[in-house]
Amino acid sequence: MNILLLGSGGREHALAWKIAQSPKLTKLFIAPGNPGMAELGECVNLKVSDFPAIGQFALDHNIQMLVVGPENPLVDGIADYFHQTPGLNRIGVIGPSKSGARLEGSKDFAKAFMQRHGIPTARYQTFDTAQLKEGLKFLSTLEPPYVLKADGLCAGKGVLILPTLKEARKELEEMLGGMFGLASAQVVIEEYLDGIECSVFVLTDGQHYKILPEAKDYKRIGEYDCGLNTGGMGSVSPVPFATPEWMQKVEDRIVRPTVEGLAQEGIDYKGFIFFGLINVKGDPMVIEYNCRMGDPETETVMPRLSCDLVELLEGVIAGDLDRREISFDPRAAVNVMLVSGGYPQEYQKGFPIGGLDQLDDAIVFHSGTAIKDGQLVTAGGRVISVTCYGRDKDDALARAMANAQKIQYTARYYRRDIGRDL
Ligand SMILES: Nc1ncnc2c1ncn2[C@@H]1O[C@H](COP(=O)(O)OP(=O)(O)OP(=O)(O)O)[C@@H](O)[C@H]1O
Ligand SMILES: [Mg+2]
Repeated sequence: MNILLLGSGGREHALAWKIAQSPKLTKLFIAPGNPGMAELGECVNLKVSDFPAIGQFALDHNIQMLVVGPENPLVDGIADYFHQTPGLNRIGVIGPSKSGARLEGSKDFAKAFMQRHGIPTARYQTFDTAQLKEGLKFLSTLEPPYVLKADGLCAGKGVLILPTLKEARKELEEMLGGMFGLASAQVVIEEYLDGIECSVFVLTDGQHYKILPEAKDYKRIGEYDCGLNTGGMGSVSPVPFATPEWMQKVEDRIVRPTVEGLAQEGIDYKGFIFFGLINVKGDPMVIEYNCRMGDPETETVMPRLSCDLVELLEGVIAGDLDRREISFDPRAAVNVMLVSGGYPQEYQKGFPIGGLDQLDDAIVFHSGTAIKDGQLVTAGGRVISVTCYGRDKDDALARAMANAQKIQYTARYYRRDIGRDL
């Protein structure tokens, strides 16, 4: 079959890498893709927000499956566009409808959904611009630190954790006053949960589900989680505290109620669900949902799947995911992200990247690269990453470090502690 994958980052490169291994694949197209993905399929210059152009391309190239990498087109309704457009409605879409994507697109919707279905999450209340006073009052009933979340999509910047009531009050005022535009016209205030985070990924056809390998990502720029937040500096899978007993709790208390809740509410959901979890004294609680895979978690989750991903995706479309086989690679995988010096603040681009031909047993995923005058160059804050397997996470990290060291460009930076805290 012909598959069209939307997106251009490391997450999509990892999806493309896995899809390209499938015997079921005839041709893979990626829009817009990146130079790394160009080795796996044909990159086509389409914007992920231009639904009519994507639809026309799909018709012209006999696409049978559309895999949506990033959240924005899902929240904006790309699945509905395909389902409702004659000709395109025969194409299977991996990604939920607009109503399903509200799990990520609206923090208030997600919290209310969890409450309706008894899914463990932090206590919360939502306030709009007319309810500043009530919001300030609710804040004073909570213990520090304070968690404020803009309701809508903010590219990972809409959550503030404030150490004092004074700062929380000030930020609440600014958020409701339009700090994130319409996205913060409503703000969720919730209880702070103390624990270690873990990301669990599920594929669902709306009725059945398969749980993929779990992973932990590393968000801060500095080692041992200090400094500013980034798009993600690396990931590890499996996660040692996600024992079979813990994962059973996740399935019983969180995954199954979520999939059943979506079905009960008549919400069309065929695709990935990303459960951002936190381990609170041995019990998993939900921090957030996303309606797509994570980046850079996908860069370790895909390498740890030893079955055919396209076989599973076919099950999602056909509604018979229960009859498809999933299997995991028993090895540990660690992904290390190489970034541009200065990121996540100001940084320079356009430096030549060398050393990729020197790597040993590494899987390379491109995040922000470009080709300039025939040369691969840096083109983003997060540039390129390496995933290595190992006997355990420390062995995988050592191999990833040896390979990261060989990739050369000006002002290269990466963390050397991915997975070390676990
Ligand atoms: N209730 C909470 N208690 C403690 N920490 C929290 C809480 N809610 C959020 N956080 C922290 O803030 C981070 C971001 O929150 P959340 O995942 O809801 O935001 P997001 O902007 O949707 O993130 P992403 O870009 O990962 O999708 C979490 O990964 C977690 O570290
Ligand atoms: Mg999110």
